[in-house]
Amino acid sequence: MQRLWSWNNAWFRWSVASLVVLLVGSMLVGFVWLPSVHSDFTAKSLWDSICRAAGVPTTWSDANTPEKRPQSTSVVLERSMTRVSENDQVGRGATLALNCTMCHGAQGMSTSNAPNLAGQYPEVVIKQLQDYKGGKRSNAVMEQLASSLSNQDIEDLAAYYAYLPKARTAPTTYDEQLPALVRVGDPLRNIAPCISCHGGVDQKIGTPWIEGMPKDYLIAQLEAFKSGVRRNDAQSQMRNMVRAMTRDEIAELASFYAGKAGAGEHK
Ligand code: HEC
Ligand code: HEC
Repeated sequence: MQRLWSWNNAWFRWSVASLVVLLVGSMLVGFVWLPSVHSDFTAKSLWDSICRAAGVPTTWSDANTPEKRPQSTSVVLERSMTRVSENDQVGRGATLALNCTMCHGAQGMSTSNAPNLAGQYPEVVIKQLQDYKGGKRSNAVMEQLASSLSNQDIEDLAAYYAYLPKARTAPTTYDEQLPALVRVGDPLRNIAPCISCHGGVDQKIGTPWIEGMPKDYLIAQLEAFKSGVRRNDAQSQMRNMVRAMTRDEIAELASFYAGKAGAGEHK
């Protein structure tokens, strides 16, 4: 009589084979398929999905991806940053801003490819300057300049730029012709509509005013988020979206927002 626990027993071979198939199948479902259909799924690789399914903290699985190595930002955005105080901050900011006009323009409107600062939300200017200062956003000139600014200087500069007329652009509204990605995004690729965070309608705290910015600047920033060279966006909000976007889409969006320059005298 054949022994039950033997490879010669067809039943034994079959049961081992079906066990293996079941195991592999359920691992694929549990580790790859299910995590990948989660709406907030952001993993970039199979390994990330496996770590995520197993409940490994993202900081562990991401530790080796170079784009995540430095902490993305250490600035905590607070509502109080959005208020420009009524004292003489604006005046002090204006004096400090004399060092910035060469690139950002006399009235905060750049004539080169530097970003416009006129009318930029104060918490954005504070956050970005703190990020340059702390080496979280890299740019040789800005890191150098920001390193010599005190926290008070930064707040004064933010107050001054917030006080200047908003980049002479109109806010983006739903009543105009909008590129699809601006209006509805692309849920299948996890791209949220730009208008839901940027601009005059629904501005989320910390989200920059981008209407009327130089086109080359917008392209450079989107490309930098895409490649991970710029990684100071909290929770990778921008990186996660732009990663899925094509060069053509980036160019279209940059043209759209840059094209709003002079579209309306908005204060
Ligand atoms: C030599 C040119 C130059 C000077 C001078 C300069 N900047 Fe900049 N600034 C730039 C460029 C270029 C960028 C975009 C860099 C990047 O890609 O990160 C920038 C970025 C910024 C940003 C980020 C804006 C955004 O929308 O993200 C802020 C804020 C800023 N600068 C403030 C200042 C302040 C305040 C001063 C003066 C103390 C100053 N800059 C002086 C060239 C300059
Ligand atoms: C979930 C909210 C959100 C959505 C949606 C969003 N953004 Fe952003 N975006 C941000 C935040 C927050 C920042 C600032 C990141 C930081 O702190 O440096 C930012 C920064 C940017 C910048 C850099 C601006 C500067 O001056 O530094 C550009 C350009 C930009 N977004 C374009 C877009 C476009 C185009 C879309 C639509 C495809 C979009 N964003 C959708 C939140 C969002």
